[in-house]
Amino acid sequence: MVTDKNFTPPSPSTLHTLSVLSGKGGVGKSNIAAALAFALADFGKRVILIDADLGMANLDILCGVRNARYNIAHLIEGSRTLKEIMVHFKTSERAEKAGGSVSLLPGGYGIKEIADLDEYAMGRLFDALSGLEDLADYIIMDAGAGIHRGVLSFAYASEMTLLITTPEPTSIRDAYGVIKSLGTQAWRGSDEVSGGLMMVVNMAASSREAQEVAERIRLASMQFLGNAPMYLGYVLRDPVIERAVKNCRIFYRSEPSSPAGICVRNIAGDLLRLCEGVDIKHEEPAAERVQKKKGMRGFLSRLVKTLFEDDKKKI
Ligand SMILES: Nc1ncnc2c1ncn2[C@@H]1O[C@H](COP(=O)(O)OP(=O)(O)OP(=O)(O)O)[C@@H](O)[C@H]1O
Ligand SMILES: [Mg+2]
Repeated sequence: MVTDKNFTPPSPSTLHTLSVLSGKGGVGKSNIAAALAFALADFGKRVILIDADLGMANLDILCGVRNARYNIAHLIEGSRTLKEIMVHFKTSERAEKAGGSVSLLPGGYGIKEIADLDEYAMGRLFDALSGLEDLADYIIMDAGAGIHRGVLSFAYASEMTLLITTPEPTSIRDAYGVIKSLGTQAWRGSDEVSGGLMMVVNMAASSREAQEVAERIRLASMQFLGNAPMYLGYVLRDPVIERAVKNCRIFYRSEPSSPAGICVRNIAGDLLRLCEGVDIKHEEPAAERVQKKKGMRGFLSRLVKTLFEDDKKKI
């Protein structure tokens, strides 16, 4: 029995929960979720990735984990503990020095959607997951695609939600579909979710294209739903991602300074700024710098600048 004497109120949690979802499938959720985990670790954060795309789980393969013995299905059954299913990754030297870490709770095959679990299975899962409270600073959940209740419930429950879209019209329309579903679900208040709903434009050709895509979605949301998600950032289309996926590697681990890697680091920096008020400067991906070098006028102005600077040095 809880009495005044033995009751200590729980200390306020510092754990941030973030779900990653999309309208259309195949837009880069899993890659961004995993890369973001390693980028946050580089900033000294302890991150746990959860493959919450139940039934379609593949984060373990993507992260190069061979034959994960246990997965979330074992938590649901109650046959294994969190400790037994958690996979720990080697992180960069920078992350290690800063105290950052990345672990994964692999998802299993053939698990029912979370919304379809019976109350006992749900209870066992929730009991196990509540053990994560003190083990991480950030929990990133790869929640899957579409507007099923199972996917949307992650957005509802998380402190923050990253809605991933690409510049393709089909992906944009489906992203809008998610925003609309989130706002109109009878079982939730739209205000509650819009605060934490943020967009990331993946596979963008440039920051300008990403911004235009985000603006289109924001305008339509404002006009028809009276509320719009915040635009958090973009990830450039980058062949390092395809290469890494083919080799079962997370591109951010092998090539953190690639254009896509820098974009993810910028997103991680913005999240830290939002969540913890830490100020981390943006870097410009090399691909963007090169793009800005296009054109004759830019060439001439750079030429004048270098000539002038050289002259100054001679004086
Ligand atoms: N920025 C990018 N540049 C180039 N290719 C990318 C980029 N992001 C993702 N891809 C490609 O898209 C594919 C799908 O990525 P990913 O598996 O992360 O998507 P997903 O949204 O998780 O898919 P699903 O809905 O099936 O879970 C990857 O295999 C990769 O080749
Ligand atoms: Mg995925």
